[in-house]
Amino acid sequence: DALLDALDRGLPHGEIPVGLFGNQEIYDRELRRLFGRCWVFLAHESEIEAKGDYVLRKIGEDSFIVIRDEHGGINVLFDACRHRGVQVCRSDSGNTSHFRCPYHGWTYNTKGDLVGAPLWRNAFGGMPKEGNGLTKAAKVASYHGLVFATLDPSAPPLEEYLGGMAWYLDLLFGLNEHGMEIVGAPQRFVIDANWKSGSDNFAGDDYHLGTLHRSVWEIGAFPVPFRENMMGYHVQAAPGHSLSFSMAPTEDEPGPKFFGFPEELVATFDTSRISAHQLDIARRSRVMVANVFPNFSILALPMTEDGAHHPPTGVVTIRTWQPHGVGQVEIWNWFCVYKNMTPAQKDRAYRAGLGTFSMGGAFEMDDTEPWITVSRTGRSVAADLLDFKLNYQMGMPGVGIAKPVEDWPGPGISYWTRYEEGVQRNLYRFYGDMMRAEPGAWPKFSFDD
Ligand code: FES
Ligand code: FE
Repeated sequence: DALLDALDRGLPHGEIPVGLFGNQEIYDRELRRLFGRCWVFLAHESEIEAKGDYVLRKIGEDSFIVIRDEHGGINVLFDACRHRGVQVCRSDSGNTSHFRCPYHGWTYNTKGDLVGAPLWRNAFGGMPKEGNGLTKAAKVASYHGLVFATLDPSAPPLEEYLGGMAWYLDLLFGLNEHGMEIVGAPQRFVIDANWKSGSDNFAGDDYHLGTLHRSVWEIGAFPVPFRENMMGYHVQAAPGHSLSFSMAPTEDEPGPKFFGFPEELVATFDTSRISAHQLDIARRSRVMVANVFPNFSILALPMTEDGAHHPPTGVVTIRTWQPHGVGQVEIWNWFCVYKNMTPAQKDRAYRAGLGTFSMGGAFEMDDTEPWITVSRTGRSVAADLLDFKLNYQMGMPGVGIAKPVEDWPGPGISYWTRYEEGVQRNLYRFYGDMMRAEPGAWPKFSFDD
């Protein structure tokens, strides 16, 4: 608990112990106390549209089958045979009516019920099949097609867990009666970094853009000048969940708005579905970057696939920072498009996304390298012996120019200008609360600053 104590002591001063990024015991506890309890993003409903469609996903390090059953419901089934614990699903995705365990042949339907086993009468005749199905996640729920599950029966309902973040998800995912869909299969790649570096970055680390991503401006892949892009809001939407908007002060400002979506598309949005305040924020926003605690991130921004040669277009990527041991993260990356986009619009959005936020994308490659060294510092003996702490003080009273916004129309706490790290302090405050909460009891949802 020494590191958690250090976190408690340091946070009010904007200090975080780097050991959180490299300590094995902390990691083991994260698997139980965060991934074993929080609502974790698994899939988008468009990935499993037809009955029997399934994808194999992870909660923490454990595999779950996310499947649309015969009645259209979504089930999240622990991928372990009830007979000996063998993995029953051997494919990343597909369509099936049954899963048959490769070891002795127990067979489960799309709801996870045990429906048969070889030589049933001799082997098990008399034993009820009920109660021997695949084990289900404790709760499953979707928000605008985003499917989440939790392993904790005492978890609050998803909308309560999202809290104010739901209002901001509406800005992007609730603009259209048709909703969004995923293009292609998610990309996956493993890097030698701790999973929290991704969440930390997407909670609103805009400060790195001008240094680490400088080349992106040099080749003209992003249409808003760096300093102008730092204008906007940081929002602690709910405990743990943070986001950041690059935003024009008024709608008449030149440059891309509405996340850079093409005007023909914006004209199709059913803006009566969101409030006037939500619409105003969406209209003025160039970029939205968000993290839903613990490891689900969202990014919407105008991007172009080939430098200045094409005008930018709105790109939406959603991603998870999948823990893979304390020193590795598997990055899962999906591209979302509105279902009613034309094929040409979808194609451009996908290409622009691939060129920037993908395994070989201009932005992505920049980010992953520093995160690897954060994890190395997190494991270092020197950091431990020298009581090395990370500085998360930007935007605290007396530090920098960020100021709380008095009349912010949305839920949560907002700061003007993105020179601010309260969004990350919010993440680590809830992190500390969850890491300490006893099983069964949920931390009280509250903000401290
Ligand atoms: Fe699955 Fe025996 S382990 S049928
Ligand atoms: Fe980045």
